[in-house]
Amino acid sequence: MLVFNKIKELEELISLEKQKGRTIGFVPTMGALHLGHISLIETSKKQTDITICSIFVNPNQFNNSSDLLHYPRTPENDIKLLDEAGCTILYMPEIKDVYPEKDVRVFNFGFLDSILEGAHRPGHFNGVGQVVSILLDGIKPNKAFFGSKDYQQVLVVKSLVKQLGLLTEIIACPILRESDGLAMSSRNVRLNEQERLEAAAIPEMMKLGNQILKLYGIAEAKKYILSVVATIPNMKLEYYEVCDAETLGILTEFSPKQKAVSLIAVFVGNIRLIDNWMVN
Ligand code: PAF
Repeated sequence: MLVFNKIKELEELISLEKQKGRTIGFVPTMGALHLGHISLIETSKKQTDITICSIFVNPNQFNNSSDLLHYPRTPENDIKLLDEAGCTILYMPEIKDVYPEKDVRVFNFGFLDSILEGAHRPGHFNGVGQVVSILLDGIKPNKAFFGSKDYQQVLVVKSLVKQLGLLTEIIACPILRESDGLAMSSRNVRLNEQERLEAAAIPEMMKLGNQILKLYGIAEAKKYILSVVATIPNMKLEYYEVCDAETLGILTEFSPKQKAVSLIAVFVGNIRLIDNWMVN
């Protein structure tokens, strides 16, 4: 695997490869890689000739400075995992390479930025938009692969690509889960033993919540989720919503004709975890 720290050098190589007719797949990450990221690399390898992964903890998307400070960083292990997975190129820049100047651009993601993650993490999606637009502009991949755990982020990135008229196809890949169902996340390593046990309740309550909302409605499912969270000592609910799977419009009534997704954000101790489950 080739490792680059400077986008200019990487751009030269990419343009040579493109001249040879090779297609580029891109997997942007913030490192602390786990099998969820590796599955994105594997999907990219199947669909494109050259897979480029980036590792960059983007300060602009953290609305909470303590979260940025404590974000796990495991570069040696990340390089080893990517190498073993057969990633072709790793781009691992310093801040100055991504942001030679302060990025003051403000994107308009409209409704998408006003709900769920957008409402609870002000500025987060603008920061995601800034870094993803810079990375896509430099790498110009044919396809970019994103995990569906960040369901809303996928819709934001699709909106970004449309607004900027970029040619990259955005591919949403399935969530990978631990054996007890907890969605894989770089943040999971920050849970202590007790919190990790408690976090296993998230997928369980989401699955049952989906059954309840189909039988008794969304209000009952919300009551159920609140009641479960209340019994778990270190857990605090930030939101639980059932939304239209395409627009993320918040639903109050479930109709089997409409594709829906339930989404949750909880704190387990100090660690904020998100998850989502398709309803139908
Ligand atoms: O999902 C992530 O890890 C980040 O938001 C991304 C897409 C790499 C942008 O920093």
